[in-house]
Amino acid sequence: MYMDIFEVIDNRRSIRKYTDRPVEQEKILRMLDAARLAPSWKNMQCWRFLVLTDPERKRLLLDAFPDGNPGKNAISTAPVSIVVCADPSESGVENGIEYYIADTAIAFEHLCLAAQALGLGTCWMGWYDEAMLKSALGLPRHIRVIGITPLGYPDQSPKQRPRKPLSDIVFFNEWITE
Ligand SMILES: Cc1cc2nc3c(=O)[nH]c(=O)nc-3n(C[C@H](O)[C@H](O)[C@H](O)COP(=O)(O)O)c2cc1C
Repeated sequence: MYMDIFEVIDNRRSIRKYTDRPVEQEKILRMLDAARLAPSWKNMQCWRFLVLTDPERKRLLLDAFPDGNPGKNAISTAPVSIVVCADPSESGVENGIEYYIADTAIAFEHLCLAAQALGLGTCWMGWYDEAMLKSALGLPRHIRVIGITPLGYPDQSPKQRPRKPLSDIVFFNEWITE
């Protein structure tokens, strides 16, 4: 059976080192289905996912990542990369907030948590040259790339990264300014 949701959330880490064990297609589909069930602006579901399993296609991504990106190596070694995209015309803008980003980010995190539940690792990566990436992969002009994750079986068990305590980030009833 699957892990408890809190076990999944507590144990997820950004994974930057992968084994070469291939990822089962049914696991990839299970993750994508979890992403598909995310909430979105007016349920318009602006997200799109480009799943790269072909090593030649995966290699096309590399030049778009700066050498200083700590996850760059994972993109070349993980057996799968998923390019998480959005069609902004299938979402809304309110109060200056472009919700295609929120919609797709939620779906992306569903995908990452589902991967964790299936024993797989991910690493949300946002530091790349979008124009280079789009041209290398032949993505349509109107599509935005929201993030990319390598996907595979983890070859590392990173410790939990620090987080701010609830007392720094939560207010009950009144917003307290110092
Ligand atoms: C929007 C976003 C962009 C990120 N971009 C990158 C990236 O380009 N390269 C990378 O190695 N990690 C990237 N990360 C991963 C963060 O560094 C990581 O989530 C954070 O350090 C907390 O660690 P954890 O995910 O293991 O809890 C990104 C995370 C988010 C949410």
